[in-house]
Amino acid sequence: MSAKILCVVGARPNFMKIAPIMAAFRARAPQLVVKLVHTGQHYDVAMNDRFFEQLGIPTPDISLEVGSASHAVQTAEIMKRFEPVLLEERPAAVLVVGDVNSTIACALVAAKLGVRVVHVEAGLRSRDRTMPEEINRILTDQLSDRLYTTEAEALDNLRAEGIDAARVCFAGNVMIDTLRASEAQAVPAAQTLAAAADPAVFRQAGHALLTLHRPSNVDDPVVLARLLGVIDEVSRELPVVFPVHPRTQGKIREAGLGAVLDGTRWLVLPPVGYFEMLGLMREARLVLTDSGGLQEETTALGVPCLTLRENTERPITIAQGTNTLVGTDADAIRAAVREVLATGGKAGRTPERWDGHAAGRIVADLAEWLAPA
Ligand code: UD1
Repeated sequence: MSAKILCVVGARPNFMKIAPIMAAFRARAPQLVVKLVHTGQHYDVAMNDRFFEQLGIPTPDISLEVGSASHAVQTAEIMKRFEPVLLEERPAAVLVVGDVNSTIACALVAAKLGVRVVHVEAGLRSRDRTMPEEINRILTDQLSDRLYTTEAEALDNLRAEGIDAARVCFAGNVMIDTLRASEAQAVPAAQTLAAAADPAVFRQAGHALLTLHRPSNVDDPVVLARLLGVIDEVSRELPVVFPVHPRTQGKIREAGLGAVLDGTRWLVLPPVGYFEMLGLMREARLVLTDSGGLQEETTALGVPCLTLRENTERPITIAQGTNTLVGTDADAIRAAVREVLATGGKAGRTPERWDGHAAGRIVADLAEWLAPA
C-alpha cells in the first residue's frame, strides 16, 4: 500500500512554504497519498483565500476551522480537532512547516500518537524565548523525526539541542521556490501605488515598504507610537507603503495612532496578496519589517532590508544577504535609513540552496525515507 502523508498549514507564512511542496509531491512522488489539512488559524480572504488562489495551493482536504484565540486556547483547539483526524487517517507521517501555533500543535498530536513528524524550516533560532515562534521552533524540532533546514548553520543549533544529525537534511529554502516561480506574475508596484492619495509622490521618489506585526512591536502602545513616529519622519524623504496586518490594525486603533498615517506620503493598505507584495518588495528602495519571511525574500531579491527587531532567527540574511538588524530605537532607525539612502545598502548574495529547487529535494528525500526498507 502506498504511504500517506498529511501536510499541515494554518497561517499566512505557511502558504508560500507548502505551495511548492504540494506541487513537488504531485510531480515527483505520485505514488504517495498526500492530503492537506488547514487548521484555520488564518481565515480572512486577504490572509488566506487569496494566497491559495495565487499560489495554486489545492483546496484543503480537511479544514479544522479553529479561528483566532489566545495562544493556549488556539493551540489546544487545534490539537483537539487534529487528533480525531489522525486517528481516522492513520498517515505514515505528518509534515509541518515554519513556526506558527498550527506547526507545534499538529506536531505534538502526531508525536503522541506515534506518527512520524517531518519539519520543514527546522533549526532556526533567535535565542529569544519571549517570541512565541521560538518556543514553537524548539519544541517542533524536538518532536521531529525528519528535519529539513534552510541554512547550513541550522544544523549546529539542532546538534546543540541533542538532535541527531542523521535526521537532518539541508534542503534549502522552499519560500524562495515560491518567490522564483512567481516572479513573472508579480504585480507592478505602480498598479498598487495607484491607490495612493497622490500617486505622483511615489512615482517621483520611489517607496519604502513597511510591515509590522510582531507582538513585541505592536502590542505595546509606547513602542508602536515610537516606531510609527520615526517612520513618519522617514516618509518625508521616502514615501512609505504599509500593508497593515489585522493584529496591527487593531492595535493602532486601540492606541489612537491612526492620524500618524494620514499624510499623502503614506499609502496604508489592507493586507495585500502575494503577487502584489512581490511587486512592492522588488521595486522598493528599502524594506522596513519585523517579519521573518521578508528578511529572506529581500535577500533573495537583493533589496535592502532593515529589520525592526533586536534579534533574528535567520542570521544568514545578515551574514550573506541584504538584511541589517536595527532594533526599535528611533536614532538607530534614522541612521540606518540614512545609510541605505546614501549608499544603496548592502550588496549581499543569495545563500546556498535558495535556488528554487528546495521542495524537489525535500520530496525526493522523503519518498526514500518513507519507502519500506
Ligand atoms: C501568526 C503567527 C506568526 C506569523 C503571523 C503572520 C503564531 C504564534 N504567530 O501571528 O508567527 O508571523 O501569523 O501573519 O502562530 N486575524 C484576523 N484575520 C485572520 C487572522 C487573524 O483578523 O485571518 C486577527 C485576529 O484578531 C487575531 C490576530 O489577527 O487575534 C492575530 O492572529 P494570530 O493568528 O493569533 O497571530 P498573528 O499575529 O497573525
